[in-house]
Amino acid sequence: MNQQRVEGQAGHAAAPCVSPAFGQLRDSFQFLRGFVRNPAQVGSVIPSSRQLEQRLVRSARIGDARMVVELGPGTGGTTSAFLRAMASNAQLLAIELDTEFHQRLHASIRDARFSVELGSAERLDEFLSARRLPAPDAIISGIPFSTMPAEVSDRVASSVARVLRPGGRFVAYQVRAHVSSFVSPYLGKPEKKWEVVNVPPVRVFTWVKPET
Ligand SMILES: C[S@@+](CC[C@H](N)C(=O)[O-])C[C@H]1O[C@@H](n2cnc3c(N)ncnc32)[C@H](O)[C@@H]1O
Repeated sequence: MNQQRVEGQAGHAAAPCVSPAFGQLRDSFQFLRGFVRNPAQVGSVIPSSRQLEQRLVRSARIGDARMVVELGPGTGGTTSAFLRAMASNAQLLAIELDTEFHQRLHASIRDARFSVELGSAERLDEFLSARRLPAPDAIISGIPFSTMPAEVSDRVASSVARVLRPGGRFVAYQVRAHVSSFVSPYLGKPEKKWEVVNVPPVRVFTWVKPET
């Protein structure tokens, strides 16, 4: 099992046991297998690019966050990028629906700030309260709102809006714009940016929860 490198946070990371290029290739293969298992759920054939990871880190202001939630971590490339950018006293909860991805994340990311739950992002509220975690400053989502049943998308959107702390950020990266029609009724108008250095290019939507 690949142990993912989480640099820059002494005392948190396990040493990687494979070269970065080989680890990346293996992640891509695992990701592709996930897509073949369930194309509509995984929504993409390869993991997010480094450029997209860095755009997400900036849009969600990960460096300033104390509590971060990731919906749909997949094979964990985005997760590791968030952990590298996070403060040493911050926490990251990831929620993944695919059993194999969940097992892999659980076994490969050795970082005291990281925890992962198996289940749907609809259960966000429940997962946070069971672990007595504080209201998130940032929630980042790669789950495919365009292919999920509308009622699931709505439950995820309302849950995100409810748990986010006032002033907190919700960042969703998507090929299509469906996410906007589910989240905007709760959080208002998003900022929209394209990340073209990604296969395929994606839109990055950012909402900031009003303070009042
Ligand atoms: C496009 S992939 C993103 C993976 C990774 N974050 C990346 O950027 O490379 C979407 C991920 O969301 C997961 N997913 C889909 N629906 C979900 C749901 N309702 N709750 C939690 N995870 C979900 C899929 O299993 C998949 O791992």
